[in-house]
Amino acid sequence: MAQLLVLHGPNLDLLGRREPALYGHATLAEIDALLAAEARRAGHALHSFQSAAEHALIERIHAAAREGVAGIVFNPAGYTHTSVALRDALLAVAIPFVEVHLSNPQARESFRHHSHFSDIAVGTVTGFGAESYRLGLLGLLAHLARAPA
Ligand code: DQA
Repeated sequence: MAQLLVLHGPNLDLLGRREPALYGHATLAEIDALLAAEARRAGHALHSFQSAAEHALIERIHAAAREGVAGIVFNPAGYTHTSVALRDALLAVAIPFVEVHLSNPQARESFRHHSHFSDIAVGTVTGFGAESYRLGLLGLLAHLARAPA
């Protein structure tokens, strides 16, 4: 049984109410519950963490390394396009992660086209709403199943 982590960046606590035409109607609690159930079905434990604070996300990534977390599903939200420090944290702990986005940033404003994470992620899933998270988790599980222990 692996320990898995879902990390959500700023403003994702407002899901359900935040620009629903773009981000859908599912709340963060609903997404977390769906992911926990999916992980449980596969025999794994999954914890979730959301913060608007870059330092809190960085500290959660450091803690994940101490806890032996095997993989992370990460929606960095606005930090996708700005945070070298979060990128460095993921490189430092070397925990495999999948980058997910509810919307498709490539189909939006040009400042969203660059991600500080895509080139170091196992993979990325974008544009499927809450389903992006589920697909991201399934991709992470497939990656962990074929990665040498
Ligand atoms: C987002 C896309 C980002 O560009 C944006 O800043 C978000 C949400 C998404 O899930 O579609 O906050 O990560």
